[in-house]
Amino acid sequence: MKTYINLFVGSLLLATSLMADTKKVAYPEGYRDWTHVKTMIIEPGHDLENPFGGIHHVYANAMAKEGLRTGNYIDGSTLVFDLLNYTQKDKAITESTRKLVGVMYKDKAKFAKTGGWGFEGFAGDTQDKRLVSDGGVSCFSCHMPQEKSNFVFSQYRK
Ligand code: HEC
Repeated sequence: MKTYINLFVGSLLLATSLMADTKKVAYPEGYRDWTHVKTMIIEPGHDLENPFGGIHHVYANAMAKEGLRTGNYIDGSTLVFDLLNYTQKDKAITESTRKLVGVMYKDKAKFAKTGGWGFEGFAGDTQDKRLVSDGGVSCFSCHMPQEKSNFVFSQYRK
């Protein structure tokens, strides 16, 4: 009996860990080759300074670029928020080290609770130091007012 219970608990744990794993957003391999959507600098004192102070570039893969145009993001659409520190010298602002890579990955079924978007952050230059521990709920809560544009703030300019 005990063995069965152990087996049962064991498979339950395995199932939940597998589920948790499949709900993870993958590191956006190769995003530096995607479409550059826009850039913005968030200075000290801005509401979003912590944790988004710095210079960020937004990238879209081909599916997300189509989404920016139509407002309809098919599964697999990925947007990246590439956040770098910056230095200010001699009237110039220059990129420095990477702070984090923020990701929005569309999978309507998997991430139904957060608008169909999986949210993740990767610290610095790492591809495995994940920053999101609440399933993306706090990321989503700030993106929620953008419902009209599918929870995306950025707009593509020509
Ligand atoms: C307090 C508000 C707030 C929170 C919390 C927040 N974001 Fe955002 N996010 C923004 C804003 C504002 C922009 C648009 C920036 C711009 O216009 O360049 C943005 C842009 C993005 C983008 C580019 C696509 C878009 O919507 O423009 C990604 C990707 C992104 N955020 C990921 C995340 C992730 C991952 C988290 C959680 C770790 C997160 N965000 C939490 C406000 C927030």
